[in-house]
Amino acid sequence: MKHLLSAADLGYDDAILILDTAKQLAAATEQGVGKLPPLRGRTVVNLFYEDSTRTRISFEAAAKRLSADVINFSAKGSSVSKGESLKDTALTLEAMGADAVVIRHNSSGAPHRLANAGWISGGVVNAGDGTHEHPTQALLDAFTLRNHLRNGDGDLKGVNVTIVGDVLHSRVARSNVLLLNTLGAKVRLVAPPTLLPYGIEDWDCEVSYDLDASLEGSDAVMMLRVQRERMNAAYFPNAHEYSSRYGLNVTRMNRLAESAIVMHPGPMNRGMEISADVADSDRSVIVEQVANGVSVRMAVLYLILGGSESK
Ligand code: NCD
Repeated sequence: MKHLLSAADLGYDDAILILDTAKQLAAATEQGVGKLPPLRGRTVVNLFYEDSTRTRISFEAAAKRLSADVINFSAKGSSVSKGESLKDTALTLEAMGADAVVIRHNSSGAPHRLANAGWISGGVVNAGDGTHEHPTQALLDAFTLRNHLRNGDGDLKGVNVTIVGDVLHSRVARSNVLLLNTLGAKVRLVAPPTLLPYGIEDWDCEVSYDLDASLEGSDAVMMLRVQRERMNAAYFPNAHEYSSRYGLNVTRMNRLAESAIVMHPGPMNRGMEISADVADSDRSVIVEQVANGVSVRMAVLYLILGGSESK
């Protein structure tokens, strides 16, 4: 694996390999072995053009646990605010010897450009591009689902995952639909018609406008953040109306099967798409998702950088 740009790049065997590698790395972390040596002497750059808490910290923790040197670059406070292009930034990173670049960008397709333009020779990992994709989020979600619903092994054949909310602006939803299908899960998207993207009928999943009708039979419910920062129009009447139709509250949660889990990629709008008591309930695996993010990103960096000797 040279890059990870899209969840669609991962075939069944690739996806299972990443999940199994993450499982081993998580076990090593749990045993308290401290830092693992495989990426010693390698440099990982976190190139973040968009705000992030979990993803950036998680990639940093992952790279450091594998003994890589980590450079954190955020567009705010860099020469990007002086108008420097992605190309010139990439050439600078190349000159400094980056072995892998983890990029988050507000433009869909930026990681593909970085990987394919020939500006850098290292691997590229998409950490979220615009409203397009977020493959490592889908991997950590699959890892979490597998732990809870499949005892941490194999694939997700027959698992019913319901993804609810602002699908229109969500790179998490797109990457999840792709990867979950690869792993054999059945996906249903639930959203108001205004928050579904154009062309949704071509996605490999069911679509519903009715959350209440979609709870029964769900093994996992993944709530998406309402992404106000990407909204340039009114997509629903008001927050109250949205949460009464599409928010996960305790009444709705109690209608889920006993074994069903509640997920959210974060950051949450508590009281909007998810109520605080649901977010903090036993069903919620939201904090676990964050922890799993580190293991999955360790696996991705390990597999991309090959764990080989430094250049
Ligand atoms: C998501 C993202 O940035 O795409 N968050 C994350 O990476 N954990 C989802 C979101 O912003 O709502």
